[in-house]
Amino acid sequence: MSFSSEWLALREPHDQRARNREVLAAVAAAFAGQPDIAVVDLACGTGSTLRALAPHLPARQIWRLVDNDLSLLARAGANAPAGVSVTPTPVDLARDLEAALDGALDLVTTSALLDLVSPEWLERFAVEAAARRLPVYAALSYDGRAALDPVDPLDATIIAAVNRHQRRNKGFGPALGPAAALEAVERFHVVGYTVVQGVSDWVFGPGDREIQTEVLSGWASAVRELDELALPHIVDWLARRRDLVAAGRATMRVGHVDVFARPST
Ligand SMILES: C[S@@+](CC[C@H](N)C(=O)[O-])C[C@H]1O[C@@H](n2cnc3c(N)ncnc32)[C@H](O)[C@@H]1O
Repeated sequence: MSFSSEWLALREPHDQRARNREVLAAVAAAFAGQPDIAVVDLACGTGSTLRALAPHLPARQIWRLVDNDLSLLARAGANAPAGVSVTPTPVDLARDLEAALDGALDLVTTSALLDLVSPEWLERFAVEAAARRLPVYAALSYDGRAALDPVDPLDATIIAAVNRHQRRNKGFGPALGPAAALEAVERFHVVGYTVVQGVSDWVFGPGDREIQTEVLSGWASAVRELDELALPHIVDWLARRRDLVAAGRATMRVGHVDVFARPST
């Protein structure tokens, strides 16, 4: 599954606003007082997590940015903030997660990844992180909650179908989708980690027309792929929702969860 740099750029400011402040503060507190830190960001895209987290970490930072999309990685390597050294590293995380976690590291980060992975991959991730005693900051996992205003009679059907589509294979085996955040908390508890979690919902106002339109179009495409609902119903629903967005009458909330998990002792 591929993600365009345009989509990642459109969502980044909304992600930055949504990131849970208590979870960010817990990450910052865990490393406060250290002169430097080495971080690996899994599925980095163009480096959104680095930009969000760098101001909260010790001044000298070494980041290994990992993704399997070379075009996104090339962008992630550019424009590192001052004091931050960045090494873009191509890895297929479905196959070579362990290689991404090897070496001298203090922290593993990721965002908008865990809902794409399978239960087996998540368990492997927790076990491999624990074997290295690495804390994990995993932000912005979609949790299945979505609310649109004004309400349309087809919204609930569309959202339920989107959540079923989220469980499809995204390259890591059948995906956790909306179950990812809860499952991550569970898996990290099992390996003896303490977990801080908090919601990081996207909240789109009437003026956030572009991202609302993109999300709604993405949902319509996903529902179409499922082939459960007649196409004219999907097309008409999207047209009604887009009209509301264009008129500046639409708002949306999309549920996400952030997690910071670290070894308890
Ligand atoms: C939703 S994007 C999130 C990107 C970035 N973390 C952010 O928050 O903007 C998911 C990312 O996972 C990466 N990805 C998907 N499958 C992967 C795999 N098997 N190995 C490495 N990266 C993968 C994609 O290339 C993409 O950059």
